[in-house]
Formats: sequence, C-alpha cells, structure tokens
Amino acid sequence: MYNIAIDGPAGAGKSTIAKIVAKELGFIYVDTGSMYRTMALSCYRAGIKADEEEKVVAKCREAEISIRYENGVQKMKLNNEDVSGEIRQEVIGNMTSAIAVYGPVRERLVEMQRDIASKNNVVMDGRDIATAVLPNADLKIYLTASSKTRAERRYNELLEKGVDCNIEDIEKDIKDRDYRDMNREISPLKKADDAVLIDSSNMNIEEVVNKIKELAKEGK
Ligand code: C5P
Repeated sequence: MYNIAIDGPAGAGKSTIAKIVAKELGFIYVDTGSMYRTMALSCYRAGIKADEEEKVVAKCREAEISIRYENGVQKMKLNNEDVSGEIRQEVIGNMTSAIAVYGPVRERLVEMQRDIASKNNVVMDGRDIATAVLPNADLKIYLTASSKTRAERRYNELLEKGVDCNIEDIEKDIKDRDYRDMNREISPLKKADDAVLIDSSNMNIEEVVNKIKELAKEGK
C-alpha cells in the first residue's frame, strides 16, 4: 500500500488538497478530523462538556461511529445517522480540539485509521498522521500557512455559505485551536522530522497539488 500523510494546522487547506491528490492518484482520502468531530458531536448531543473527562471518554467508547466511502467521498455515521454535514459546524470544530486531548478517544480512532491505511492506498490528513498514526508513511507532508491567510480562507468559505461571521473572531478561534493542538500532551501537532514542509500562504491549490504529486512520483 502507498500511504501519504498530510498534517498541519486548522485551515491550511489540508482537506481540499488531500481530496484532489487522492482523486488524481486513485487513492482513498481519509479525513481523520471528521472522526474526532463525530466523537465531539456525540458528546455535544448528550450535553457533555469537553472538560468532563470521564464522561467524554465513556461516551466516546460507546459511540457507534462508522465510516463509509461513497464515490471517494467520506461519510461519517453516528448511531447509523449520517452526520457528515452537522460535524462541520464551528461549535463542533472548537469542541473537537478540546476532546481530542484525551488518550482513550485517540486510541480508538487511531486503530480505525491504521486499519484503513493497511488495506488501501490513502491520502490521510490530520494532526498526528506522520508522527503517530502512520510513522512509516511513504510520503509525509506538513502543510501550513500564516494564521492570517488561514482566517481569510475560512472567512471567505463561510461567506460563500451565507454564514454571518467576523474575521477577527475566526482568526482568534484558529489560534486557540492551534495552541490546543500543538500543546497537548498526547500526539501534539508538529512537523515530523522527515516530513516535507509546504507553506501555502503564497501558493494556489493547483501548485500545492502538483508539488505533492511530484514528491509522490519521486518516492515511487
Ligand atoms: O481537521 P479538522 O478541523 O476537521 O480537525 C478538528 C480537530 O480534530 C482538530 O482541531 C484537532 O484537535 C482534532 N484532530 C486531531 N487529530 C487528528 C485530526 C484532528 O487531534 N488526526
């Protein structure tokens, strides 16, 4: 199997890029953030707060989550209900980074992620893919951009969806999320020593996609 790991902070464009690369190479795109988001949603729906560690862990242990791929698109199910849309909400994104600090929540998902990667050629994106989930991945990318650029992209995305928002709040949320992800004890977000750093602040989508495809070709 050929495994490509893409890590990086919120809003760096990982999922957009990973989706295109996967499609063009005929690989499966595995969005690990959605798995953590689904766990957060199950807690949110149960009225559990992120800092209630025991309750969060218990809820995440029992949550029935499953993943399906429909025409290359990953769908998340919680108790057999498709929650792929609902987990994209900002409130869930922010809660997710607060529950992703707990070891038992991560262990369960990491096992699922490794299982998928052992059976398929994948482009997998997240925060700890190269450092913890797939340390032997064939190609490791650390994709980043300045927090200002990332906030601007997110702002434009939300505007397009007709969501009322303000760019200062978005940049603050992004910085808070980065801080939590980079400073947690278990599997913090950081660049693996052997990962290739790509700063997309001044690159368009096509340039980043081509760069990764070139690197994959060189490695094959
Ligand atoms: O990438 P996305 O914004 O969907 O991720 C939501 C949150 O899930 C991240 O901020 C991070 O806290 C958590 N996450 C993680 N490990 C991963 C993927 C996501 O801790 N591999």
